[in-house]
Amino acid sequence: MKTRVVLLAAGKGTRMRSRLPKLLHPLGGRPLILHSLEAAENVGNELPLIVIGHGGRDIREVTGDRAEFVEQAEQLGTGHALQQTKSVLAKTADFVLVANADLPLLTSQTFKKLLETQKKNKGPFTMLTLKQEEARGFGHIKRGKKGEVLAIIEEAEATPDELAIDELNVGAYCFRADWLWTALAKLKPSAKKKEYYLTDLLEIAAKAGERVEALFLEDKDEAIGVNTREHLAEAEAVLRRRINRHWMQEGVTILDPQSTYIEAEVTIGQDSFIWPNTMLLGETKVGEDCVLGPNTMIRNTQIGNSCEIRAAVVEHAIIEDHVEIGPFAHLRKGAHLSEGVHMGNFGEVKNSRLGSGVKMGHFSYIGDATIGPNVNIGAGTVTANFDGKNKNETIIEEDVFIGSDTMLVAPLKIGKGSRTGAGSVVTKDVPPNTLVVGVPARAIRKLEKPD
Ligand code: UD1
Ligand code: CA
Repeated sequence: MKTRVVLLAAGKGTRMRSRLPKLLHPLGGRPLILHSLEAAENVGNELPLIVIGHGGRDIREVTGDRAEFVEQAEQLGTGHALQQTKSVLAKTADFVLVANADLPLLTSQTFKKLLETQKKNKGPFTMLTLKQEEARGFGHIKRGKKGEVLAIIEEAEATPDELAIDELNVGAYCFRADWLWTALAKLKPSAKKKEYYLTDLLEIAAKAGERVEALFLEDKDEAIGVNTREHLAEAEAVLRRRINRHWMQEGVTILDPQSTYIEAEVTIGQDSFIWPNTMLLGETKVGEDCVLGPNTMIRNTQIGNSCEIRAAVVEHAIIEDHVEIGPFAHLRKGAHLSEGVHMGNFGEVKNSRLGSGVKMGHFSYIGDATIGPNVNIGAGTVTANFDGKNKNETIIEEDVFIGSDTMLVAPLKIGKGSRTGAGSVVTKDVPPNTLVVGVPARAIRKLEKPD
C-alpha cells in the first residue's frame, strides 16, 4: 500500500500583507515551506508533492529536489488545489495525506499517526481536529448526536452558533485514494467565497453515510497555522522553545531560554554554555565546552571547542579551538581565527586569517590580512587596506610584534620576527628581524634572531 504526502502551497497569503509569498517568510531562520516539508519527508513512499501557484518558482528554488511539484494556475480553493494532483497520484497512491503548507509546527509523528489511524479506518478519511477557544480563522467541526463528525464550517460561511463551536479543523487529512478522486469531482463552489473547499469533503462523506475519523491533536502548539504576521510571531515563539529544549536535552546549558534565539539549522556541542541575549543564526556550528554571550550575535559561523565569545557580532567566520573573543568585537565575512587566538575589546577582523596564538587585545582593525602564528598586535593597530580604489593585502609573518597605534599601509609585508615602534606608519615592506619606527617608518636596527 503506497502513501503520498501532498502539501498545499499555492495560496497567496493575502493576510500577511507582504510582497513576499507567505511560505517564504522565515521561521526559525528558514522559509516556512521547509518546515512542513521536513515533517512530510519520510512519511510517504516517495517525495512529497507540493501544489504551487503564487510564488511557485521561489518555492521550487528553496525546496529543490526534495519535492515534486504540481501547478495550480488559478487559486480556486483548497479542494481545487488537491484536484490538480489527480493526474500524478490517481494510479500510484493508495493513501493521500494532505496538509496545508502553512502549518509549520506539525510534526512527522503527527503525520504518521494520521496515516496509521486511516489505515485502520474502514471509512474514506481521517482528519486532525483540536479544541481551542480562539478560532484563528479555522473551520469549525459540526458533530452529530452520536458524536460523529458531520461537516466543517468555514469561518466565512458560518452562523454565529457555528462560530461558537470550539472544535476546529487543523488542516491535515489522510484519504483513501479511490474514494478521494470521485469525491473531489463532486465539490461545488462555496456560497459566499465561491471557492472549492477541501473541507466540504466531510459533508460529502457524512451524507453518504460513510464514517470519517477525527484524530484529536493534544499539543495545540502543533496547530499554529500562519495566516498573519501575528501568527508568525506565535509560531516563532513555539519553535524557539522547541529548539532550546532540544539543545538543553543534548547537554547545552541555556541560562535564560527566553532571551536565547537559536535558529533551526544551528548545531551546538555538549557542555557549551549560553548566556542571555544570545542569537545563534543561520548555519552556525558550535563545538563543545564553549561559552557564548551575553549580548552576542553569531551568524553562519563555525566555532571549534572551548571558545569564549562575549558581547560580539560574528558573521561568516571560522573560529578554531580555544579562541577568546570580546567583549565588543566584530568578526566579518572571511575572518578565520586559528587555535588559541585572543581578540579582546573593540576589534574588527574582516577577510583575514589570524595564525595560532595571535594576540590582538585592544582597538584594532585587521582587514584583508594574513597573520602568522604568535604575532602580537598592539592596541590601536590598523591595516589601511583601502586606497580609495582597491583593497590591498597585508602579510605579517610569524613572531612579529606590532607596536601600539601602528598604521599598516597595504599592500605590505612584514618579515618574520620584526617589530614596529608605537605610532609608526609603515608604508614599505619590512625585512625579517628589523625594528622600524616613525612616520613614515624607517629601519633603525636589526634585531637579534631568537634561537
Ligand atoms: C483552511 C481550511 C480550514 C482550516 C485551516 C487550518 C479550507 C477551505 N479551510 O483554511 O478549515 O481550519 O485551513 O489550517 O481548506 N491553498 C492552495 N490553493 C488555493 C487555496 C489555498 O494551495 O486555492 C493553500 C494555501 O497556500 C495554504 C493552504 O492551502 O497553504 C490553506 O489555505 P488558507 O487560505 O490558508 O486556508 P485557511 O483559511 O487557513
Ligand atoms: Ca491557513
